[in-house]
Amino acid sequence: MIVILLGPPGAGKGTQAQRLQTERGLVQLSTGDMLRAAVKAESRVGLLAKQAMDQGQLVSDDIVVQIIADRIQEKDCANGFLLDGFPRTVAQAEALDVMLADIGRKLDAVVEVTVPDHILVDRVSGRYACAACGEGYHDKFKKTAVDGVCDKCGSKEFVRRADDNAETVQARLDAYKAQTEPLLPYYRAKGVLLQVNGEQPIDKVAQEIDAALDVDS
Ligand code: AP5
Ligand code: ZN
Repeated sequence: MIVILLGPPGAGKGTQAQRLQTERGLVQLSTGDMLRAAVKAESRVGLLAKQAMDQGQLVSDDIVVQIIADRIQEKDCANGFLLDGFPRTVAQAEALDVMLADIGRKLDAVVEVTVPDHILVDRVSGRYACAACGEGYHDKFKKTAVDGVCDKCGSKEFVRRADDNAETVQARLDAYKAQTEPLLPYYRAKGVLLQVNGEQPIDKVAQEIDAALDVDS
């Protein structure tokens, strides 16, 4: 199965993608995670991407299209994958159509996770993660244990993303509306767009996604 998770910053794409990876064996391909790894490694791609990411703007189509084109040819993607944060422009969506045609695969579903803007800002601004194992936490919605220890691995070190501040979150939301929302009519016209209400608790959103995917498959 090949699925795209579409939604604004903080909609819960990463949260749901991790779960779907564990439960359905779909490999999570997050362009945001890949780009952050490239920035950390100070690779050529990382150096090109850093400024746009810090400002909440999109990285150029050429860079992300190449990353995904290479990644989906790897062996672990053979049984299906879940695109988290890609495509984000109509040009990226068109490039994906060509890539999938080249490898003889087809897109099964595009799941749009909808959440009102004021909630998104709250979610993204309060987010942090364990520096050792990457487990995600949130100041309001998913706190660490009282003594500030990661439930999963016991580490006491946590990190916040450089772009998770109120100003950059607004720029990311603006980029979503201007450049990514045009994908909704693009995929609706192809008959693959499903919508779920991302304003509910995490497990309720999960149930809605599962029901939508199961009906669709
Ligand atoms: P990316 O990493 O993709 O960030 P994003 O789209 O802004 O999405 P987030 O990771 O912030 O949110 P999410 O929807 O995954 O939510 P999460 O599950 O974490 O991209 C970062 C940057 O990289 C971009 O700005 C751009 O520069 C660049 N980039 C990436 N892809 C690109 C592309 N294709 N083209 C060009 N540039 C690209 O949840 C958020 C928080 O809310 C968490 O704390 C979570 O615990 C909590 N939460 C989740 N669901 C719920 C719920 N139902 N109820 C309560 N809390 C919840
Ligand atoms: Zn941890």
